[in-house]
Amino acid sequence: MKILGIESSCDDTAASVVEDGRVLSDVIAGQATVHSPYGGVVPELASRNHLLNIMPVVDKALEDAGVNLDDIQGIAVTRGPGLVGSLVVGLQFAKTLAAARNLPFVGVNHLRGHLLAARIEGDNLPIPKFPYMALLASGGHTGIYLVENEVDITCLGQTRDDAAGEAFDKVARLLGLGYPGGPLIDRMADSQGPKEQFPQSLRQRKSFEFSFSGIKTSVAQRVAQIPGGPDPDQVLAIVRGFQQAVVEILVRKVTLAARSKQISTVVLSGGVAANKGLRKHAREVCDLNDLELFAPPPKRCTDNGSMIAYAGYLALQAGLSDSLDLSPLSGWPL
Ligand code: KG4
Ligand code: ZN
Repeated sequence: MKILGIESSCDDTAASVVEDGRVLSDVIAGQATVHSPYGGVVPELASRNHLLNIMPVVDKALEDAGVNLDDIQGIAVTRGPGLVGSLVVGLQFAKTLAAARNLPFVGVNHLRGHLLAARIEGDNLPIPKFPYMALLASGGHTGIYLVENEVDITCLGQTRDDAAGEAFDKVARLLGLGYPGGPLIDRMADSQGPKEQFPQSLRQRKSFEFSFSGIKTSVAQRVAQIPGGPDPDQVLAIVRGFQQAVVEILVRKVTLAARSKQISTVVLSGGVAANKGLRKHAREVCDLNDLELFAPPPKRCTDNGSMIAYAGYLALQAGLSDSLDLSPLSGWPL
């Protein structure tokens, strides 16, 4: 079964063809240059650029997969959560295609897409078996999820305020580094040298909740204390310390959750899971605790079309589909 998946929930326009759970193509058009002057995503610009990108991205996904629309047996699209103006572009495009071609159509939860992305075949990597404990850390969400199977996914705790990726982006903006902040901070923090110390909110709490607004304020206060602003070495020390604090709390909570529920497999997902420091620290802590770690390749951690095509494939294969009057959902908890 060949499924075309379309993702447009934030600022990336992505499309992918998946055949029986294996990726045949994965195409993405980012918009970093559009939003970078503003230090964050401007919703109106995001939807306009989705409109420009969606046709060429879908065409390229079909071409890369070596198929045409006659070969496609179902259409999957992100229904939410996300920016409504962005979601509506992908959704409308997918519905039109499904109607014109008389194909089954399904709206996918973006979070479910991230949480199942580690199980996509096609990267020559081992696939985690169910059940697993997943960390989902992205620009819009951060939480711990018990993934029992493709259907039963339970949130054990999430952030009370900012998402981890949002903290990366806000701290980068505060330090004048650019947008998106995550990959920039990741590169800068991958260096030896002094580290500032920053607090880890809710560290001692037994719950699996997070809070990242405090660390952003601590960084702002630290920057304000330095007369004339931080010099490049001071920026590096702040960045290293910030990343360490975020990475440690994320890894601590997901591994504690796995141990407390007697789950032996840990999975990383979401854009922040592309972070080198996070992947390295997670590997160390999992090794120490006899937990098996699965970190999908970075391109399947950040937003992509294959996770939507894959989750859509699972739904359609199980006989689930949606009607063509499906509306986008800006908030849609699992
Ligand atoms: O999953 P994603 O692509 O989109 C959402 O669903 O939000 O995540 C985007 C977030 C952004 O905040 C970005 O700064 C962050 O993930 N991110 C990273 C890295 N790559 C992307 N954060 C830390 N290190 C990275 N390498
Ligand atoms: Zn995402």
